[in-house]
Amino acid sequence: MMSGEIDFRELTDLSKEEKYRAVLPQISSLIKGEENKTANLANIVSVLKYTFDYYLWAGFYLTDEQRKDELVLGPFQGKVACTRLKFGNGVCGTAAERKETIVVEDVNLFPGHIFCDTESKSEIVVPVIKKGRTAAVLDIDSGISGAFDDTDKKYLEELIKKTEYLF
Ligand code: SME
Repeated sequence: MMSGEIDFRELTDLSKEEKYRAVLPQISSLIKGEENKTANLANIVSVLKYTFDYYLWAGFYLTDEQRKDELVLGPFQGKVACTRLKFGNGVCGTAAERKETIVVEDVNLFPGHIFCDTESKSEIVVPVIKKGRTAAVLDIDSGISGAFDDTDKKYLEELIKKTEYLF
């Protein structure tokens, strides 16, 4: 499937849940038949960023193959971001270490939150678990406080399940 086949205008009036339900099958079609991780992760974050207007930054951090306690910046959409994050530090590193999704309503209240963009107000991080280890995290920031909720968590976790084969 060509990315040009996704008509983002058709999604404008849908609710958050309807948008996820519309876009997840489209992402599956988009990555089907392509094994390259970088290409697929790049297209996934592009679709997400251009679907959800409350997203400020969306990207993957991948566990470094050599330094296994570090996440290194992968495909993303948005402004220049921190290149490396340590497991256990910040929202990404904490989600990577705990192997669970973290939803942060107010980034100022998350101990150790790492600012890559001062405009960021809330954040969700969903880890990719492969063979019991965190292989990557999907990190999304919003410029709006409390932008992410259980709907984002449910559908982004569903999406991440579909990408595990790439890692
Ligand atoms: N806020 C993240 C750092 C990554 S940037 O948001 C892109 C954190 O605390 O881990």
